[in-house]
This record gives sequence, structure tokens and C-alpha cells, in this order.
Amino acid sequence: MASIFAKKPLAVLLGEANSTGHGTLQRTLGAGNLVALGVGAIIGAGLFVRTAAAAAQASGPGVTLAFILAAFGCVFAGLCYAEFAAMIPIAGSAYTYAYTTMGEFVAWVIGWALIMEYALGAATVSIAWSEYLNKLLDTVHQSFPAVGTIPYNLSHSPFEHAVINGVAQHGLVNLPALFIIVMLSLLLVKGTQESAMFNAVIVVLKVLIVVVFIAVGWQFINPANHTPYLIPADAVVKNAAGEVVRTYESWNKHGLGGVLGGAGIVFFAFIGFDAVSTAAQEAKNPKRDMPIGILGSLAICTVLYILFGHVLTGVASWREFADPALGGEASVAYAIRAHMPGYGWLATAVTVGILLGFTSVILVMLMGQSRVFFSMAKDGLMPKAFSELHPRFNTPYKSNLMLMVFVGLFAAFVPGSLAGDLTSFGTLLAFVLVSLGVWIMRKSDPDQPRPFRAPLSSASFPLVPIMGALVCTGLIIGLDSFTLQVAVGWMLLGFIVYFLYGKRNSMLQKGVVVVPTEMDEEAFIKPDSHNR
Ligand code: ALA
Repeated sequence: MASIFAKKPLAVLLGEANSTGHGTLQRTLGAGNLVALGVGAIIGAGLFVRTAAAAAQASGPGVTLAFILAAFGCVFAGLCYAEFAAMIPIAGSAYTYAYTTMGEFVAWVIGWALIMEYALGAATVSIAWSEYLNKLLDTVHQSFPAVGTIPYNLSHSPFEHAVINGVAQHGLVNLPALFIIVMLSLLLVKGTQESAMFNAVIVVLKVLIVVVFIAVGWQFINPANHTPYLIPADAVVKNAAGEVVRTYESWNKHGLGGVLGGAGIVFFAFIGFDAVSTAAQEAKNPKRDMPIGILGSLAICTVLYILFGHVLTGVASWREFADPALGGEASVAYAIRAHMPGYGWLATAVTVGILLGFTSVILVMLMGQSRVFFSMAKDGLMPKAFSELHPRFNTPYKSNLMLMVFVGLFAAFVPGSLAGDLTSFGTLLAFVLVSLGVWIMRKSDPDQPRPFRAPLSSASFPLVPIMGALVCTGLIIGLDSFTLQVAVGWMLLGFIVYFLYGKRNSMLQKGVVVVPTEMDEEAFIKPDSHNR
């Protein structure tokens, strides 16, 4: 048996990336599709919900600076992803990069962590989707009483209960969350190009809603709301009854510290650009288009986010967002209804935008998860079914269907709050390891052709990878302790699964590495002779 730190030879990976024909994913996606895929995964709850939360809890109007700071952290990781994705255009993304630079065990760790980002992320967002669907139905109900909302028991998990209009309600099953997971999984089975087209339509609509909000809202900005720009340490927010609902003394809740605190909150809004790299094996020209997809979608969203934050905190005061009775929830719709007379339709459009946003985030997350499992199954670390492609649609349909069941069950029966910031943890861990991977690869394999190189990064002093690893480690440390405890528990479970299943079935451990060729022949290589 090889060591658990055995590395998958780069030559083998490049062989897999270049292979075509039966049993391989088809290259159908262009640069536009990839940028749309990124924007599809990025713009969602983070923008529509967390912008106001960050302004209210830590940054005030300085939420624009919080977005810049969070984007800065993502750019380092994004540049590292772009370097890897162009060099090794293969479906497994961070998992694959770790396999060839840090060895199998680290690759397993990252593959296991990505389940938190993609599968758990998709389930969490589907639960939020269900909530917003009911919000939209409620709005429609005001104008068309024949349209009703979905009853509480059929739109909440069995662990949730509430008293509504004096009547105790208990959840049973979250059917809308289950519904959206099933529909999108079936779409993914049907085809990558079909899914990408559906995603592109959604992306156009949701970006349009964001742009319209920025353009219309700009005229309603009240400069007084932007002064002072950062929250003073002695600020307090009181409710209508004069009770203090929030104070800001702690270091990360006011001033520049508050900008840092806000960056941690809005980081979630940027998650998703890395999912572009999981489609690398389906890109027509990955060497050129992977960096465009990853960095292009990140750049577009950063600009939109800064403008959105500027307008939102200009239209309404951040203090209103801090008061749960005013703009605490559904903050954007609140700001429009309270401060933009005559634009009630825009508030409804924003709710539609949120639903669309959630839909494409779920779609790309489910796709990303199936592509990571595809690579892990090819390597023997996951059951083979995850890498079997549909004879006609050429999609990893068994993987999509199994994920439909698992993610669907989670969405139907588990409360959304449980997932919390675990998505951020999984993502950040991947970012740290990808940044370290670029650093290691620059040293171990300096001559390997790199169609895209992260700037300011020589082999002796790779600034971008170092910054990527440092900033993302800092953001991990900043996560709350409960999230970290659950994440550690999940990773320990992953160790057990690796030693019971992964290590025993790994192709590399068995001394067998399959090199696919144009004819899909299987060549067997002894790993030791190829390991660096
Ligand atoms: N970035 C995604 C969102 O904001 C995860 O919903």
C-alpha cells in the first residue's frame, strides 16, 4: 500500500483532462456560460439578506468597504483557482489540486469539506427558497386572494414550530425545499448545456433586478444616511418603545473593526465563484476560459455588491435594519416600501430576484457537488456509481439522483438554521488548501506550462498564495465556535470514512492509476514511479 500522502501524478491528471469519448464529460461550455455559472452561484442570499445584516450589526454604510475587503480576500483565492483550473482543467476542483500537490489524505479532507460547501449549501439555500416562496405567495395573495400560501406544516421541518395568529403550528415536511432540489437535480441529469442555459436566463433576470434597484434607488439616496460612514463606538439602537435593541462597543462592531466584522458576514455573498472550476472538464477552452469564468464573475459581482450596498444604506438608515420591527428581515423590500414611494412593484421584483438567485445558487452547488464526487469516484475514493455517465445525456446521472435523495431529505426534514455558517467553513478550508497548493506546485513543478499565472508570485515569494492562505485562515478563525465544533465533528467523521472506505478502495493505494486516452484505453502505472 502507498502512503496516505501519496500524490496523484500530474501526468495522469493531464491525461484525464485531455481524454474524450465514452465515459468522459463533454466540453460544451464557453466563456459566457462560465461567467454566468459563476454569477449564478454567487448572487443570492448573501447580497439580498446579508448586506443589511452587515450594515446593521457592524459596518453601517461602510458595508461598501466590507464588500471590498471580502472581495480582496476572495481575489487571492480566485487567482489561485484560476491558475490551477487553467493548468489542470478537471472536474474535481480543489480536491484534484490537493491530490497532486499535497497527497491523497489532504485531497480526501478537502473533498469531504466540499460536501459542506456544495451539498449542505444547496440544502440550506433550498430551505431559504421555501421561505421566500411563501413570502412571494403572500404578496400575490394581497392582490389575488384565490392564491394562498403553503401551510406551515408542509413548508417546515418536523423540528420547527411557531405560534401564528394565536394558533400553535408544527412542521412536518418542507415540500417546497424538496421540490426545488428534485426539479434542479432532474435538470442536471438532462444535460450540462441545458442546465447552463437555464442558469443563464436566471442570471440575466436577477442581475437586471439588482441593476434596476441600484439605478432607481440612487435617486432616493438620502446623504444623511451615509453620515457618519462608520458606526461610532457609542452608538445604540432603540426600538419604538425606547428599549435598547443593539449596542456597538466591541471592537468588531464599530469603526474600521466593524468593517472587518461586516466582511466576515458578507463573505458568504461571494461563495460560488470557485464552483466554476468544477466545470473545468466541460469547458470548451479551459486554458483561456477558466480564468475568465472565475475572475470575471468575481469582478462583476464585486462591482454590483459595492453599488448595491451604497444604495441600500443610502435609501434607508442602517439603524432601521438593526430594529427587528422595521427592516430586520426582508430588508431590501422594507427599504423600497418605506422610502421609495411608487415602487412597490420593485419590492415584489426583489423577492422574485431572491427566489431566482436562490434557484441558480442551488443549481450550481448541486452541479459542483456531483462533479467533485465524479472525480473522487474515478479515483476510487467514492463508490463507482458517482462517476457513471448517462449513456445519452453524458451527465453523472446516478450521482445527481443520489444527491437528489440525500440533499432532498435534508432539505425536507432539517431546519435551515442548523447548516448556518458551515458552508463558509467548507469553502474557506478549500480556499486555504488551494492557495497552499499553488505555492507548493510553483516550487515542485516550476516548469509545468501555466496558461494563467497568479501575479506577484515568484517561486521564492508567492505573495498571492500566501495572502490567500492567510486571509482565509483568518476568516475561519473568525467563525463562531459552534460552527467550528460541528465542522470539526464532520471532519472527524470524514477521517473514519476514509480509513474504512476510501483508503481501501483508492486506485492509488491499490497501486493502480488509470490513464485514459483518446480511445479510453486503460494503462496501468505503478504510482511510485511517478510520484514526486
Ligand atoms: N453566494 C451565495 C449566496 O449569496 C452562496 O447565496
